[in-house]
Amino acid sequence: MQNPFKFGSVVTGSDFVDRRSELEELSRELADGQHLFLLSPRRYGKTSLIFTLLDSLRSRGTLVAYLDMFRTTTPRQLLELMAHTLLRAAESRPERVLRLALDLLGRLRPQVGTNSTGEPTLSFDIGTSPRSDLAFQEEVLSLPQRLAVKRKSRLVLAFDEFQEMQRFPGGGLEKAMRSHFQRHRHVSYVFAGSKQSVLQDMATLERGPFYKFGRIISLSSIPPEEFAPFMEVRFRSGRIHASAEMLDTILAAADDVPYNVQRLCHQLWALRAGKVVRITQADIGEAIATIVDQDGPYFSGAWDRLSLHQRQVLQAIARAGGRNVFAGEFLAAHRLGSHSSVQTSLRKLLKEQIIFKTNGEYRIADAFFREWIGGRSP
Ligand SMILES: Nc1ncnc2c1ncn2[C@@H]1O[C@H](COP(=O)(O)OP(=O)(O)O)[C@@H](O)[C@H]1O
Ligand SMILES: [Mg+2]
Repeated sequence: MQNPFKFGSVVTGSDFVDRRSELEELSRELADGQHLFLLSPRRYGKTSLIFTLLDSLRSRGTLVAYLDMFRTTTPRQLLELMAHTLLRAAESRPERVLRLALDLLGRLRPQVGTNSTGEPTLSFDIGTSPRSDLAFQEEVLSLPQRLAVKRKSRLVLAFDEFQEMQRFPGGGLEKAMRSHFQRHRHVSYVFAGSKQSVLQDMATLERGPFYKFGRIISLSSIPPEEFAPFMEVRFRSGRIHASAEMLDTILAAADDVPYNVQRLCHQLWALRAGKVVRITQADIGEAIATIVDQDGPYFSGAWDRLSLHQRQVLQAIARAGGRNVFAGEFLAAHRLGSHSSVQTSLRKLLKEQIIFKTNGEYRIADAFFREWIGGRSP
């Protein structure tokens, strides 16, 4: 029997724990024409939530499109992906995509072809001079609204890992996006991102390009009372009994982070499926040790890229928690030196998303990395 716990890529359908209240809230806001920023640390389930949300909106007749900013490295690439994604959201057959492209983006001289795997491709024959780049930008940025109007439908356009925009030099595209998007009456935009502080700055700083453009929603982990029954049913299908206490232990060991929970359950299943067993504390310990071992090379790589001081800060947080990191006692007990050096290290660790901050506490983002760090000799 296939392992019912999935991790690593997007989960949808029956692999997805409902998050009903989030889905309802997001759908309602988008239907009202509200733009949204969706923030959470990595692996909390933003992308899975967006896929589920868009599927549900699509089934109710809304036009939806999804763009992953990680896939683009230049503004031109982003705009091409945006054009292609929007047209494909409205039409699937290549000849129809072309007709729509000619209709809405005729000035860009669109051409449709197929790639080596038979997927339709779209290219534009207007050159790459600064002037044609600008013309391209103007046409593509007005496409969402024009498409929505043409199809007489609301369009929901989601940008995932939107903070990556900030890597493009100059910031010109962001400003142009803002000035176009704010005029789009029939489009609701979703901007999701894992680098929460960067995205938050984009949305809340007065000089930020998307200042007050939309509502900010922070995605929290899945509530244990929703996750636990989901886990219990799946374990049972492999004749594994997980008591309420053991389910709590798993959730706590995984910091309630959806990816970690699925990963740990997947490993427990791999260890125990097929026999009638009750999960014990020792099983959970063994599963965690196996995962820490599997990810060891990746953790050593990450460790290798850190300064000695950053490592010391991480060790201190792994052992004592990250609540009072600037207190004199904490600095002294872990020999961390000055307040300012700790601040510098924390800033770098936050930027690399090795830690994140929640309710005034610094936490190591990956529970298994925390185990690995904690397990190192002092
Ligand atoms: N609603 C959910 N139900 C069950 N597992 C989830 C859910 N959301 C996320 N996960 C788990 O977390 C992993 C990462 O999810 P993903 O959507 O890629 O997160 P993010 O985009 O925030 O990094 C998934 O592969 C899955 O194992
Ligand atoms: Mg994601």
